[in-house]
Amino acid sequence: WYEKNKRDMPWRKTKDPYCIWVSEVMLQQTQVDTVIPYYNRFIMKFPTVKALAEASKEEVYKYWEGLGYYRRADYLHKGAKMIIDQYDGVFPNSVNEIEKIPSIGSYTLGAIMSIAFNYPMPAVDGNVMRILSRQFLIEEDISKPKSKKTFENKVMTLMGNNPSEFNQALMELGALICTPKNPKCMVCPIQEICM
Ligand code: ADE
Repeated sequence: WYEKNKRDMPWRKTKDPYCIWVSEVMLQQTQVDTVIPYYNRFIMKFPTVKALAEASKEEVYKYWEGLGYYRRADYLHKGAKMIIDQYDGVFPNSVNEIEKIPSIGSYTLGAIMSIAFNYPMPAVDGNVMRILSRQFLIEEDISKPKSKKTFENKVMTLMGNNPSEFNQALMELGALICTPKNPKCMVCPIQEICM
C-alpha cells in the first residue's frame, strides 16, 4: 500500500541522517505541505552539518522565518555545533549518541535511526498510537506518557525487515487513511484485520 500510495517528499529521496534530522524537526510542529518549501530552502542553504554549524544565528532564523516555534531552529543550530565538536562533523549513527543531540526525543530518535539507518526502532507519535489503538482495540489513554511504551512495544512486534519503510508507511496511513475524524476505512489496506 505504501509503495503505491506514498506522497512525494524531498526528504524521502535521501538517506542522509542530517537531512532526515532537519525534516523531522521541521515536521514536529508543522504539516508536510508547509514544511516542503522550507526544507528545500534550508537544505540548499545549509547542505551539511558543517554549513549549519558555521552559520550565524540570524542567518538560521532567516531561513526558519514563518515556520514558528523558533526554539527548533536553535536546537538544530546547537546540535550541528555539537556534531562538529564531538563527532568531527559526522552525524552519529548510534542511539546513545543521537539521543544526546538537542531537539531529539524518542519519536525523532526512532525516526532518524529507522529512516536513515534502517535500524529496527519504533517512531511512535499521536498518529501511530491512533492507528494501532484502532487496529488492536487498545483502550489505553494516549495522552498519558506511559501509554507510549505500550505502542512502542506493539510496533516492534509488527516490524518486518524494513524499519524505514514500515515506520513511514504507518505515518502515511495515519495522514491519508486513518485520520482522526472520518477515517477512510473503506479504502484502508488493513480494514480486514482492524478491530
Ligand atoms: N511526519 C513526521 N515524519 C514524517 C515523515 N518522515 N514522513 C511523513 N510525515 C512525517
